Amino acid sequence: MSESDEKYMLRCIELAAKGLGYVKSNPLVGCVIVKNDKIISEGYHHAFGMPHAERVAIDRLDDKTQIKGSTIYVNLEPCSHYGKTPPCAPYVAKMKPQRVVISDVDPNPLVNNQGIKILQDAGIQVDVGICSMENRKLNRRFFTFIEKKRPYILLKWAQTLDGFIAEKNQNYIKWISNNATRQIVHKWRSEEMAILVGAGTVRCDDPQLTTRHWHGDNPIRMVVTNSGNLPINAKIFDKQAKTILFYSNTPNFTVNEGNIDVVKIENDFIDTLFAYCLENSITSILVEGGSQLLNTFISREQWDEAKVIVGNKVFGEGVRAPIISQYTHIDIDKIDNDRIIHYTR
Ligand SMILES: NC(=O)c1ccc[n+]([C@@H]2O[C@H](COP(=O)([O-])OP(=O)(O)OC[C@H]3O[C@@H](n4cnc5c(N)ncnc54)[C@H](OP(=O)(O)O)[C@@H]3O)[C@@H](O)[C@H]2O)c1
Repeated sequence: MSESDEKYMLRCIELAAKGLGYVKSNPLVGCVIVKNDKIISEGYHHAFGMPHAERVAIDRLDDKTQIKGSTIYVNLEPCSHYGKTPPCAPYVAKMKPQRVVISDVDPNPLVNNQGIKILQDAGIQVDVGICSMENRKLNRRFFTFIEKKRPYILLKWAQTLDGFIAEKNQNYIKWISNNATRQIVHKWRSEEMAILVGAGTVRCDDPQLTTRHWHGDNPIRMVVTNSGNLPINAKIFDKQAKTILFYSNTPNFTVNEGNIDVVKIENDFIDTLFAYCLENSITSILVEGGSQLLNTFISREQWDEAKVIVGNKVFGEGVRAPIISQYTHIDIDKIDNDRIIHYTR
């Protein structure tokens, strides 16, 4: 790997990140075309169903003959199959670059080295592994989904300085975090495919679970209940987004709205949830509480990241916040008087 390989691949990764929140359930991909050590075109995958990065970068050039003899950088192996768009590898090969540099092989069984083979069969030099660590971090949802066959799990809660997520006997919602942090939470929501809460949170807080303070699509809303005891007029059953209700006992109301799906828990909730996500290409979930639900994921060690907002309040007593004791990395941000502790497992 040369220094310029790294420089151009980091540019691909920077471009790819612009698709965050829009390309889901696809990977984030950027592409840079370089000739005589100059970028002659670049592009990224903008949104699900839209052209892939390589095609965007190639099609931006009116004179495509310039690509002959160039080096094309792309942070994921060009695809070899028909999905929402035609395959990229044959299109790239047709342009006759001299070399294609890739961060990672696409682990999707529909691709998995077949895109590379198409390029090599066309006589193009292919180098793999440049900035793989940075790419795997950016595309952690995608790699987790394909390699671990489960969605990427991000836990999130807000707690007081004395470690409570809610007051005892709360009659109304008392916000723990400040306005700016609450807006950032809506940004986080826009980046994930689904948001999950326990039935206790729906009964106490009646949350909307939307991205109304940020741009981007509302994620799919998910709620889990053993008892089936939920208010049918809860906001999560309104028409702002799709809602999936995981239940053990039949709910105390008939679900007949088009935007609500019901899924019976077979033996174990997490197993049922992961199977549903695999079947429906739901690659990431933001688990927003409450305590019982968060502790289910923590005790089963089925989580990838946790974002804990520590506000400036003290409740004295109430619902205890979960505790994270096993993690590989921690960093702390400050937003006004809130701290955001970010754990990576
Ligand atoms: N500060 C924050 O960030 C934050 C976030 C969310 C909530 N909260 C607060 O947290 C409190 C609620 O917390 P909580 O621990 O009591 O409730 P919770 O975790 O939201 O909900 C617990 C209920 O969810 C269902 N459930 C949870 N895990 C399940 C599993 N593994 N399998 C099947 N069902 C499962 C059960 O529903 P059934 O009872 O229907 O069987 C259970 O009783 C509220 O006061 C709320 O305000 C705070």
